[in-house]
Amino acid sequence: MITKTMQEAINNQINKEMSSSYLYLSMAAYFEEKHLSGFAHWMRLQTNEENQHAMKFYDFLVERGGRVSLGAIAAPKGDWTNSLEAFHQVLEHEEMISASINELYELAQKEKDYPTQILLQWFISEQVEEEKNAADIIQQLKMIDAHDTAVLLLDKQLGKRGG
Ligand code: FEO
Repeated sequence: MITKTMQEAINNQINKEMSSSYLYLSMAAYFEEKHLSGFAHWMRLQTNEENQHAMKFYDFLVERGGRVSLGAIAAPKGDWTNSLEAFHQVLEHEEMISASINELYELAQKEKDYPTQILLQWFISEQVEEEKNAADIIQQLKMIDAHDTAVLLLDKQLGKRGG
């Protein structure tokens, strides 16, 4: 059985994951309006991924005999100056989520809650990937700004190499 302290912390994290999903859906809508369907596609997938993150915590709480309790989700920002600014916010947001996951891990250690530590190890690795993805896209967008579009296109071509 999970402790009340850990349960409350995980419920807070469910809220953060759902808020992340809502933020990326808002970004999808922003790119949709700009007719940037590739960016919108990326954001829609990101939205789904965040829902899955929330559900991982949800299912875990149920399995441990805890009680899922859902809080309010604030309206996300809806407009950005350009795609670079949007992706800067993605990176900032993911860094905030990483810090939150790390705090949860510290709490699980303090509570000697080993099953939660195992679950969180997956999230710790996932956050490394989440931050890297956003940082990579920021760098690529900066190359476009610097008129290195050809390099970027070549990079995409090289990245498709199969063997
Ligand atoms: Fe669920 Fe993007 O962190």
